[in-house]
Amino acid sequence: MDNNVANNIRSKVDIVDIIGERIPLTARGKNFFGVCPFHDDSNPSLCVSREKQIYTCFSCHATGNVYTFLMNYEHMEFKDALKYLGDRVGVLVEGIKISRKNTKFDKLYEAYNLSAKYYQNNLNSAAGKEAKKYLYSRGINDEVIKEFEIGLSLDKKDDLITLLTKKYDLSTLNRIGLANENYDVYRDRIMFSLYDVSGKIVGFSGRIYKDNGQSKYLNTKETDIFKKGEMLYHYHIAKEECRLKKYVLVMEGFMDVIRASTIGIRNTIALMGTALTKEQISLLKRLSKNIFLCLDGDDAGVHATLSIGDTLLDEGLEVKVVSLPNPDDPDTFILNNGKEKFENLIEAALNFSDYKMLKLREKVDFRSDEEKANYINSVLEEMVKIDDAIRIEVMLKRLAKEFDIGYNTLEMRLYSLKKNKDKPKEKQTFLNKDVVKKDKYVKAVEQVLYFMLNNDWVISQVEKEKLILASENARKLFSEIIYFYKQNGFINVADFYTYVSDKDDILVLLNSILADNYNETTTMDELKLYFKAIRDYSVRQEIKRLSTLMKKEVDPLEQAKLAERIRKLRIGE
Ligand code: UTP
Ligand code: MN
Repeated sequence: MDNNVANNIRSKVDIVDIIGERIPLTARGKNFFGVCPFHDDSNPSLCVSREKQIYTCFSCHATGNVYTFLMNYEHMEFKDALKYLGDRVGVLVEGIKISRKNTKFDKLYEAYNLSAKYYQNNLNSAAGKEAKKYLYSRGINDEVIKEFEIGLSLDKKDDLITLLTKKYDLSTLNRIGLANENYDVYRDRIMFSLYDVSGKIVGFSGRIYKDNGQSKYLNTKETDIFKKGEMLYHYHIAKEECRLKKYVLVMEGFMDVIRASTIGIRNTIALMGTALTKEQISLLKRLSKNIFLCLDGDDAGVHATLSIGDTLLDEGLEVKVVSLPNPDDPDTFILNNGKEKFENLIEAALNFSDYKMLKLREKVDFRSDEEKANYINSVLEEMVKIDDAIRIEVMLKRLAKEFDIGYNTLEMRLYSLKKNKDKPKEKQTFLNKDVVKKDKYVKAVEQVLYFMLNNDWVISQVEKEKLILASENARKLFSEIIYFYKQNGFINVADFYTYVSDKDDILVLLNSILADNYNETTTMDELKLYFKAIRDYSVRQEIKRLSTLMKKEVDPLEQAKLAERIRKLRIGE
């Protein structure tokens, strides 16, 4: 596709609207600021420029235009971002062929797709009879098998490998987690497809279905496309559903999610265990700010609920707990009690702080004064997080009555805890963050490239200068800017972004240049200083090169010629 359609659509939308609909933005001067969603932060380090139609994070250096924002934030493919924005501004994108360069991971996706298809086929073959019986016995019917792309790896040592080595070499298969030396990784397991945030199959979890003493699930190892800590199972489906339901149900296992789906509940994700990483938290935030924890009802589940709940609360999310009876998990609870009972449980979800107090209370031996005091103190510590004054009064009254302690004593204690917490933390803002001091030459090159991206006239000046740039990426970016300008007859950062969005090496440099937030316009005098810095550097480099040559030269006449050239360079001829 030529980029004209993309540029046309981009020029009709305002990046401030698109980002502002997703992240609260505050106007400051010409720009808008918000908390950057691409790294863990609570400071407003994301700057959105209406004028330039790009965003830049001063902290993590995430940068781009409205397309890259949607691709990174919503995990849209480029063509979907194009369609989405096209719809908004009434430009028809249907039928336009989008030829994007392949991503470097296309081969991996393809291998996983092939494998998933193959495994599904196995399950439907005669060899899959017993596995099917197992799935049916757990209430997983053919429709669900199809929807969740469940398959079977056969009880052979090189079944999948034999198929895949027709297309990929063995070392590749080892690297991408589908082979172990010369053998299949998965043998005789029910294969659950694992998806990335955009819904592509990127791994498997293989479950045993006969009692053979092996570990229950075997997961794909970490690869370029499968990072367990950066995904949430079912995210791509939950994305839409959470928007409608306004909350997300967090479960431990994908079996729980699959079961909930059979009763029409799809605003669910699985952590695939009980750990929660920073990346997963940021994904959760995108689903909804209302989190319903629905982990297993056993001790481990309760423990995880308490720790995950605390973490999420600290992140400013609203947390509720759907409490299951021990030892149920959502899967068994739904299977045994049905849809309505499960919906009742969701309805009865407790506020996290109430849940926590309930759990704290369960453990207290009320005959011990010390335990009693500890309990009261922990309750007060919890209450520090509650903003609702009426609720606090009700809780304090209840505590006072129950333990026969003066209301004022409790209130004073709560007040002093609150004061401690409100102490201003060392706030780190982008304004006082360490600015990496750049080499004068590097800075000059980056400034020139930056101004070229913002001002037509700079490009023609630069062309006259015949500058020599030392770094290859700088040279590439330089010629892409010129190429873009010649092709389009104009230059602006936002459209240039679309043009280079699949050129990884350039993007790194471009991002770093934009994130340094220079002035937008420059003067001829300023430019001349940069040109000089660049030329000085080239001269120094050339002198270095000639000196090395001179040292190696044996012919005295040649040596003298080199010395003369160096002398001329030194005096600037
Ligand atoms: P669970 O043990 O709760 O699995 O582990 P489950 O959902 O109840 O599965 P069934 O009902 O026994 O089939 C929760 C999640 O932890 C991960 C899996 O992702 C699972 O979905 N897990 C569990 C493993 O990776 N390996 C294991 O051996 C066990
Ligand atoms: Mn289970």
